[in-house]
Amino acid sequence: MAEHIAVQDLSKDQAAEELRRLSGLLAQANRQYYAEDAPQISDAEYDCLKRRNTEIETRFPSLKRADSPTEQIGATPSEGFSKVRHEVPMLSLGNAFEDEDVVEFDGRIRKYLGLPSDADLDFTAEPKIDGLSLSLRYENGLLVQAATRGDGAVGENVTANARTIQTIPKKLDSAPDVIEIRGEVYMSHDDFDALNARQGERGGKLFANPRNAAAGSLRQLDAEITRSRPLKFFAYAWGALSEPLGQTQSEAIKRMENMGFCTNPLTELCSSVAEMIDQYRKIEAQRATLGYDIDGVVYKVNDLALQERLGFRSTTPRWAIAHKFPAELAWTTLEDITIQVGRTGALSPVARLKPVTVGGVVVSNATLHNEDYIKGVDSKGNQIRDGKDIRVGDWVQVYRAGDVIPKIADVDLSRRPSDSVPFDFPTICPECGSDAIREEGDAVRRCMGGLVCPAQAVEKLKHFVSRAAFDIDGLGAKQVEQFYTDGWIAEPADIFTLQARYGSGVQQLKNREGWGEKSATKLFQAIDDKRTIPLARLIFALGIRHVGEAASNLIALHYGTWSAFITAMENAREASGPAWDDLISVDGVGQVMAQSLVSTFAQEAERASIDRLVAELSIQDATRPDTQGSPVDGKTVVFTGTLEKMTRAEAKARAERLGAKVSGSVSAKTDILVAGPGAGSKAKKAAELGIEILDEDAWLDLIAGA
Ligand code: IVH
Repeated sequence: MAEHIAVQDLSKDQAAEELRRLSGLLAQANRQYYAEDAPQISDAEYDCLKRRNTEIETRFPSLKRADSPTEQIGATPSEGFSKVRHEVPMLSLGNAFEDEDVVEFDGRIRKYLGLPSDADLDFTAEPKIDGLSLSLRYENGLLVQAATRGDGAVGENVTANARTIQTIPKKLDSAPDVIEIRGEVYMSHDDFDALNARQGERGGKLFANPRNAAAGSLRQLDAEITRSRPLKFFAYAWGALSEPLGQTQSEAIKRMENMGFCTNPLTELCSSVAEMIDQYRKIEAQRATLGYDIDGVVYKVNDLALQERLGFRSTTPRWAIAHKFPAELAWTTLEDITIQVGRTGALSPVARLKPVTVGGVVVSNATLHNEDYIKGVDSKGNQIRDGKDIRVGDWVQVYRAGDVIPKIADVDLSRRPSDSVPFDFPTICPECGSDAIREEGDAVRRCMGGLVCPAQAVEKLKHFVSRAAFDIDGLGAKQVEQFYTDGWIAEPADIFTLQARYGSGVQQLKNREGWGEKSATKLFQAIDDKRTIPLARLIFALGIRHVGEAASNLIALHYGTWSAFITAMENAREASGPAWDDLISVDGVGQVMAQSLVSTFAQEAERASIDRLVAELSIQDATRPDTQGSPVDGKTVVFTGTLEKMTRAEAKARAERLGAKVSGSVSAKTDILVAGPGAGSKAKKAAELGIEILDEDAWLDLIAGA
């Protein structure tokens, strides 16, 4: 072999060939060492290859490769994945736990569609695979992009990795020009056991369960690692399409199969709730022998035209539901109860458990919710666990349901230590010593320290930089905690003044452990990039109690601009005034959320902190991207009388999807009144006000094609 030839005797061709080989070998060794924690050659062998490479490069400088090992330190730097915006959002599913929930699901759909209880309504029933969802985009039959779900709107581009999965076709025959196939990436039990055994032998990382292993394997920056992991894919849904896949879910599944995808063989068509539940029981009975993890059964309305009519709530389709399997259980000892203080000051008790395996996952913590829960009563004062309290030292039953944080289901009093005492819930904050107060009607005790409380301040900051909020590259929970501890940042506005406050912030930061000139420069760039922020993200990032991501979006859309929003919050202080009424008219905003919003902006210190932040930002107004071109975008519409082609709920949801605001009463602000037979006073009032009045058909014509 060439390396036995002395460097000075190598021909140019031999040298080029050897450099190519060495670059491959060294890259592989780097990967095994850095990314897989599984080196296959000794350090001495590695050094020897590297030295030989350098010697050849020195003798033939013109042959130095673009990917020369001498230019590389360690593995490919962790750049992260690029982001992909899903053309059609990747949603999640609502859950059913009991059979009655499935009956209600069927009832809800019939009501929404205006179908009588004896009308035909078919559903597919199929296993809910416990893996991670992936969207595969094919253009002209070729796989062009694969993306993880991410937050549903934006996922990670894992195309190179997906290409290494055998059950994902790279090329489709007779497919629509554009098609996005969605499904679940998973790992079988056998493959998981074998992978963990291999990892164990190499002293590598062990995965807790097949889903973690699948996720960890798919999200590798080096696709070659993904290739070495035995991942599989089941197709069950789709996103963007240039032409329909059929008229029913079953036809679409068949079509996916014909295109070369694996679909789940346990999928059945059911024509009643009884048949759906029957199929659920059948799948549940086979669960242990399937060879891969499933955590429930998914029911989907079979008729795709009905799916279209049913549409979506903010994050879940109305036409599908996941019927989950009951939780998994195990017994262990409760070693301690500790208190965590959250972003809103809530004192949350956490059970510290002697580690125990529950359904394949090692559990050492469980939530205890609040002090009543520990005492054995629920929020209404009813007994839970037959009124048994939970004490340190108890023998407790832990359960896990899907992704949900483990909980304590029961306590075995016969094994309670004789010297145990009831848990004494703290009335002062363990983090800052402020009073922790439980208000009338609130199940939670809260620290009154506000931003003085380090735990609250840090949690608020962590929330602020989280993915659905400001999502600043390089500034995660860990960095925020460090910067807070060192007094660099105390509130969100400080993030944006960090660089200025330290002169050239880069100089300061690069000297800190874990930071270099490059990462510091990158961080300040990433912070600057987020000075321009969409209104909805800002509202969510403020971490106001009860105001989640979906509500933030709806609030942003309602007010449009920061100044309109903030003015409304000030005006809404007057209870039952017009600004208050307007706030609670926003879809998804109830009294409790509205109160929380208004009181946040009414607190002086809080408001000043928000103002300091806003001064650093340029806030993008909220617009409705998908309703552009809709003839009813921004219009206020009222429905009255009997609608014959759709139910009221359906009409309202459809109008809102097209950007209209649906109101219950006619006023000067109304743009269109849709009047069915039997319309009375509203039609009269609209006529008096000169408002456009349409019958149902004219309305449907108006929105047709929008
Ligand atoms: S349908 C519009 N079918 O469950 C919703 N999802 O909890 C389309 N999942 O994010 C999803 N098996 O990752 C569907 N047979 C199945 C599924 C399934 C697993 C996952 C999927 C989704 C999550 C929702």
